[in-house]
Amino acid sequence: MSEAPWQRNLRPQLAELVAYDVPPAQAFARMHANELPEPWPAHVMAALAELVRTVELGRYPDTSGRSLRAVLGQRHGCDPARIVLGNGSDEIISFVLTALGGAHTPTLVIPSPTFVMYRLSARVLGYDVREVPLDDAMELDGAAMHRALDGATVCFLARPNNPTGTLWSSTLIGELVAAHPEVVFVLDEAYIAYAPGASLWRADAPDNLVYMATLSKVGLAALRVGYAIATPVLAAALDKIRHPYNVSQTSLALAEAVLTRFGAEQQQMIATAIEQRARLCALLARIPDAHVFPSAANLVLARLGSAEQAAALCARLAAHGVLIKDMGAHPRLRGCVRASVGTAAELDRLESLLR
Ligand SMILES: Cc1ncc(COP(=O)(O)O)c(C=O)c1O
Repeated sequence: MSEAPWQRNLRPQLAELVAYDVPPAQAFARMHANELPEPWPAHVMAALAELVRTVELGRYPDTSGRSLRAVLGQRHGCDPARIVLGNGSDEIISFVLTALGGAHTPTLVIPSPTFVMYRLSARVLGYDVREVPLDDAMELDGAAMHRALDGATVCFLARPNNPTGTLWSSTLIGELVAAHPEVVFVLDEAYIAYAPGASLWRADAPDNLVYMATLSKVGLAALRVGYAIATPVLAAALDKIRHPYNVSQTSLALAEAVLTRFGAEQQQMIATAIEQRARLCALLARIPDAHVFPSAANLVLARLGSAEQAAALCARLAAHGVLIKDMGAHPRLRGCVRASVGTAAELDRLESLLR
């Protein structure tokens, strides 16, 4: 079909990109999306359902989620004015890249492999993307990162990283941030709940460091609530890009209720998932020729004997209701699978299938 005249105005880089999509899956064990699978206790669900009944559907929510930002400000010991809410941290990624994309050719630096949305969102906005391969242990290559950061605009560092589960050196990250004050570093702690005590959050962080977090990995993925904590100047810039009312009233109310009333239950669910992670690692390690990478997140990466073996394993497990992800599309992850932590019952199923 011939191209319609308006199509010449599409951003040219869109032609090279593939939309992020995960088809809906009804399976016994959905261990492919890095969620927290533990169910909320019944009394929490009942209280949240009651809260939903009070939401005034005809009214807009607060433009910037002030009440939830106040709770987050207290939790992090910082001025809520520095906190910007996103419809998931995916939205924060776009805010940061949009705010900083004013240079002639803005440049994103990311380790590789890492979370795919950094690259996708940057390419949409016309960024050059420099990908710095992780070493064989999936650790940051310090020298290569320093070289790539020269003249760059933004750098995203997920710690722990997805899909590797690696908790990169805090010392190296500190050195990179200090050595490149012209680059804005986004420290993405989406999975930090699974590495207790390892957070690098500091209220007095250097002003080229943006802290990013999400409620998605701690039992609230359905709400789509993420946030950034930035220096006041950058927070104000992000807020100009953010659409008003970007987080729904239902999500604001439920997130605030969980953070203020049901933190103990949430911590228990996280602790259970941390226990199950050890079991998941042990199960994957039993696969002949598998190498399991140490993980500080709720996901585990394993390299199997071959790309074919990885694809066959994923297909066979899926046929029996257990979804894990074949990572072979990434050149550095040929033969790798990523499984997120399941419940005890889900891991029982995985165990019997692996046998
Ligand atoms: C490292 C990392 N950061 C951010 C996100 C986005 O999370 P959300 O948009 O649900 O907050 C993900 C999702 O998988 C992720 O793996």
